[in-house]
Amino acid sequence: MARKKITVVGAGNVGATTAHWLVSKELGDVVLVDIIEGMPQGKALDLAQAGPVEGYDSRLIGTNGYKETANSDVVVITSGIARKPGMSRDDLLNTNANIVASVTEEIVKYSPNCIIIVVSNPLDAMTQVAWKKSGFPKNRVLGMAGVLDSARMRCFLAEALNVSVENVTAFVLGGHGDTMVPLPRYSTCAGIPVTELLPKETLDQIVTRTANGGAEIVSLLKTGSAYYAPSSSAVEMVEAILKDKKKILPCAVLLEGEYGINGLFVGVPVKIGSGGVEEIIQINLTADERAALQKSAGSVQELVEKLNL
Ligand code: NAI
Ligand code: 2OP
Repeated sequence: MARKKITVVGAGNVGATTAHWLVSKELGDVVLVDIIEGMPQGKALDLAQAGPVEGYDSRLIGTNGYKETANSDVVVITSGIARKPGMSRDDLLNTNANIVASVTEEIVKYSPNCIIIVVSNPLDAMTQVAWKKSGFPKNRVLGMAGVLDSARMRCFLAEALNVSVENVTAFVLGGHGDTMVPLPRYSTCAGIPVTELLPKETLDQIVTRTANGGAEIVSLLKTGSAYYAPSSSAVEMVEAILKDKKKILPCAVLLEGEYGINGLFVGVPVKIGSGGVEEIIQINLTADERAALQKSAGSVQELVEKLNL
């Protein structure tokens, strides 16, 4: 079987760690792209030299161009900047939108049949940018956030229940921001709804901690944001595509009427396989949950409107 090819754009914390998980799972050969001269080349070489010790045969290439990315099966976009003192949220929005747009243009030129997974923030708006710029059908552009947000919630639930993280599933809908919608009602431990196992106050605390999960790590790290769990989450999506797993994962996808949302990328459960987004799963929501999802979609819409796509 021919090897799969995965390109990771942005070889910073999230990009390099994504490459690390990808090769350690031998999901394919990896091309790391960054604008910093020598950096993606150095990280790719370093990771390749861990292969004999760890026992993986994936080939790694680091580059500052796109020729080497040709015919990738999946491309993960992690390039972008983090907010610096004196910069507004809008500055970040516009700067990263320009980066994601220019990167997408190059990717599409060299890999017209790839599936794009966006990680750059603000996530839902950046996924919308990549989709618009790519001209790809909606099933081939998706954003990573829900897998991370629900992994955080699973981690907190497992801790509160004192059970294996593997026993816990969690459900998070909406945009990747403080308005995200964690749903305890649809979260389980060994199939049992967690609402039957934990008191409401504990669940409320976990919901709040999940929604603030990114900020909690930023406040500890001080010089950057989370990258181990974000990259691991992106790799779960890559694996679901490359192995055609038909795995149901929460991802940012283009909604066209589902959940009463139209023309906007927002996080909902979807089936992921070799076709990318193969199905959008619609679940019943209470009036409160539906209102929270609408509010979250509203804040994504506000950002997207500022971009004049
Ligand atoms: P980082 O600063 O460590 O890495 C970003 C890399 O992008 C840098 O190496 C930079 O040189 C590169 N870059 C900038 N412009 C580029 C261009 N035009 N072409 C290629 N590379 C370019 O940042 P980190 O921690 O890796 O985060 C990356 C992005 O992912 C940020 O926007 C961050 O907010 C976002 N993020 C999103 C998450 C999610 O859940 N969706 C979770 C964690 C991070
Ligand atoms: C996170 O949730 C920063 O979006 C990133 O950690």
